[in-house]
Amino acid sequence: MGLIKFGEYLLPDQIYHGDSRVLLRKIEPESIALSIWSPPYYVGKNYEKDLSFDEWKNLLREVVNLHYSLLKPGGFLAINIADILCFKDVSMPKIMAENISRRKIGITRSQIMGVMKQHPEWNRYQLTAHLGCSEQTVDRRLNGNNIRGGNIRHRPGCLLSVE
Ligand SMILES: C[S@@+](CC[C@H](N)C(=O)[O-])C[C@H]1O[C@@H](n2cnc3c(N)ncnc32)[C@H](O)[C@@H]1O
Repeated sequence: MGLIKFGEYLLPDQIYHGDSRVLLRKIEPESIALSIWSPPYYVGKNYEKDLSFDEWKNLLREVVNLHYSLLKPGGFLAINIADILCFKDVSMPKIMAENISRRKIGITRSQIMGVMKQHPEWNRYQLTAHLGCSEQTVDRRLNGNNIRGGNIRHRPGCLLSVE
């Protein structure tokens, strides 16, 4: 772990452990091309349980603001934070906001196979339009795999390849 000497900037390729609001002030200006930050979400974890809602917002604000002078021109700050619903009233629960990508689709393998049997001439676009779901969902139900990432182009027949 790197040690910080008075008046010196933090060294590159070192790991520093501390409060980001303190450490960021010791980084050389315009020296960061990409900063990746996973801040507290304000969901009652041990490391944030003593923060008030305003203190939490101030932490986020301060760390974001400190980045302005640290990033190289064209540099990025990427913040990894979930969709959280927070309420000023401390008695209100802090809950994850709905993430539509986590929604379960109710379509079953046998429903898909039924439609395919009824309409064997349909291509995958007609099939998914009829079912109201994505090609990924159909492929997962039929083949138990995930075609995300463009693999479908290399396996044009896989969507309808049920035994
Ligand atoms: C949502 S977690 C992120 C965890 C991280 N992505 C990982 O994989 O370990 C938030 C982290 O920020 C740390 N943290 C909280 N307040 C901080 C602060 N002021 N400065 C630096 N880190 C802080 C917590 O200890 C916790 O590890």
